[in-house]
Amino acid sequence: MSEQTLSNLMHEDRRFEPPADLAENANVKAEAYDRADADREAFWAEAAERLDWGRKWDQVLDWSNPPFAKWFVGGTLNAAVNCVDRHVEAGRGDKVALHWVGEPIHDGVADTRDITYAQLKDEVSKAANALTELGVQKGDRVAIYMPMIPEVVVAMLACARLGAPHTVVFGGFSADALASRITDCEAHVVITSDGGYRRGAASALKPAVDEAVEKTGDLVRNVLVVRRTGQDVDWHGREEGGRDVWWHDVVDNASTDHEPEMHDSEHPLYVMYTSGTTGKPKGILHTTGGYLAGTSYTHWSVFDLKPETDVYWCTADVGWVTGHSYMVYGPLANGATQVMYEGTPEKGRWWQIVQDYKVTIFYTAPTAIRTFMKQGREIPDGYDMSSLRLLGSVGEPINPEAYIWYREVIGGGRCPVVDTWWQTETGQIMISPLPGVTAGKPGSAMKALPGISADVVDDEARSVGNGNGGYLVLREPWPAMLRTLWGDDQRFKDTYWSRWPGLYFAGDGAKLDEDGDIWLLGRVDDVMNVSGHRLSTTEIESALVSHPKVAEAAVVGAADDTTGQAVCAFVILRDSAGDGGEDIVEELRKHVAKEIGAIAKPRQIMVVPELPKTRSGKIMRRLLKDVAEHREVGDVTTLADSTVMDLIKSKETSAPAED
Ligand code: WT7
Repeated sequence: MSEQTLSNLMHEDRRFEPPADLAENANVKAEAYDRADADREAFWAEAAERLDWGRKWDQVLDWSNPPFAKWFVGGTLNAAVNCVDRHVEAGRGDKVALHWVGEPIHDGVADTRDITYAQLKDEVSKAANALTELGVQKGDRVAIYMPMIPEVVVAMLACARLGAPHTVVFGGFSADALASRITDCEAHVVITSDGGYRRGAASALKPAVDEAVEKTGDLVRNVLVVRRTGQDVDWHGREEGGRDVWWHDVVDNASTDHEPEMHDSEHPLYVMYTSGTTGKPKGILHTTGGYLAGTSYTHWSVFDLKPETDVYWCTADVGWVTGHSYMVYGPLANGATQVMYEGTPEKGRWWQIVQDYKVTIFYTAPTAIRTFMKQGREIPDGYDMSSLRLLGSVGEPINPEAYIWYREVIGGGRCPVVDTWWQTETGQIMISPLPGVTAGKPGSAMKALPGISADVVDDEARSVGNGNGGYLVLREPWPAMLRTLWGDDQRFKDTYWSRWPGLYFAGDGAKLDEDGDIWLLGRVDDVMNVSGHRLSTTEIESALVSHPKVAEAAVVGAADDTTGQAVCAFVILRDSAGDGGEDIVEELRKHVAKEIGAIAKPRQIMVVPELPKTRSGKIMRRLLKDVAEHREVGDVTTLADSTVMDLIKSKETSAPAED
């Protein structure tokens, strides 16, 4: 028997055809695949025509020095002009760009603001003038550490307008994390706010900035502070030789006239830090022309955006790449009207917002969907969500059961679900159904988008072919790809391009089913080896979640004397299942054996109240492995809630099963 790179275990026969009217009026039809295959560069050039250019490019792609790509070589453009000014000039200034919804509710009334494209243009111009006054010049880096308020979008676009690359640091990160990012990209200006609202309370941001600035010596010249909560802040104003400047002092009074410069297509747009396997975070560099073409095209095609009628909502925080590509740059370049929400998904609040703003396109993460599944469908069932016509998922594999729940309960059975695979590094969606073309399979991201070349290969970089599992790779450059790691070309090559010459290796395992559709199987670092079979965490987790009592599951491989590694599972039960009953562990083990076979039957299952997740919702399996192997639990500083591991350890009583 030839050893498979990754076993192909699960079978799924459900299919969902696109709704007929959506298919008929879809922005992108099936012919796009052939057209892109016939001439990839011409295809992306057409996507770039969606943008306004100062000077048109001379060459679509320069790939003469791989892995360093240049797209739309010789072209010039301004990202902020493409996201804002051009819509105003085209007569759409009164169209709402952002329906912003604040978290606090006062006397039953939410704190909201509607911002039109014309208003956004004025705000971005004023902020660009204010930043210039603070000495920010083209090429300077600006760090942004803010809550989900409109000013964060204004700040990003003002930087883009000036050609000053921004680095947005998620507001939930610590002062240390902020300091290391400020240092790595040598930012002289930080934009922040006094605080933001989280779970009903004002939570401070400025003290973390003060601490971070302190740690970075003389690097930071100015801290520009938006007043959001009105809470007390330690203030060191310019009058007393300090760095702090209020946003309302310098932005509100600035001129709304700002002449934008056209920047080179390859001018840096932003740096987004993402954690690596070694301690030092990687500064993913995205540049202007290719990134904007890639995000604008994919936002329009994957979400079938009709800018005149759709109300789009991506729930991601702006501190993650999803917030950059699919809340700021893609949707605004497309002139979309969208919702932006300040808070966290407390019970019915999201659905209230969908109902109030008649949201038509909704994009969120599987971790949120599974949390809602756990709470039960009664909550979303209490709202009118008939406006929805399309649902998206991103961040992790969506288990078939969560997909079906999302489709049925949130989408009323009408809406296609697009499971979109991509990464901070890829900048744009790479693998996804096209909603007017693809008959979706629950749990599969389906195919590479037109113009994208993805494959699944074995250890020798040979395509595994249909029906087999292996490593997900990308064969051809794409417009929004990262250009390098900030200040570290060598690490860029080593991290992504060294495993097999000429192939970008994404770090994910995947399988091709009998039709050649792609199923993501999780990070290859998480793959388990049980009696010589390589098993993916995703498939076993999906089998567990398909049991009616289970809301969420995480699986790790723990050292085992007989089988090398053994499957250990951690499960969260649905609220409706209570404590699951006495035989829950045996019931679930049998269920996995039935769904995918005895080889995948967990040796041990722990019912837990929570799972350890990063702030972007990814399960930290490394910590669960420590529990499964009875070790001291490792570094928990990147957990969203660091007390979760204590809860899990206190549950560590269930004895290993016999067989
Ligand atoms: C990793 C990238 C892409 C923006 C958010 C996360 C996993 C992402 C999917 C999906 C299966 C997915 C992969 C990928 N991932 N989307 N639809 N199906 N896995 O960005 O933090 O850079 O993480 O997230 O493992 O490599 P990121």
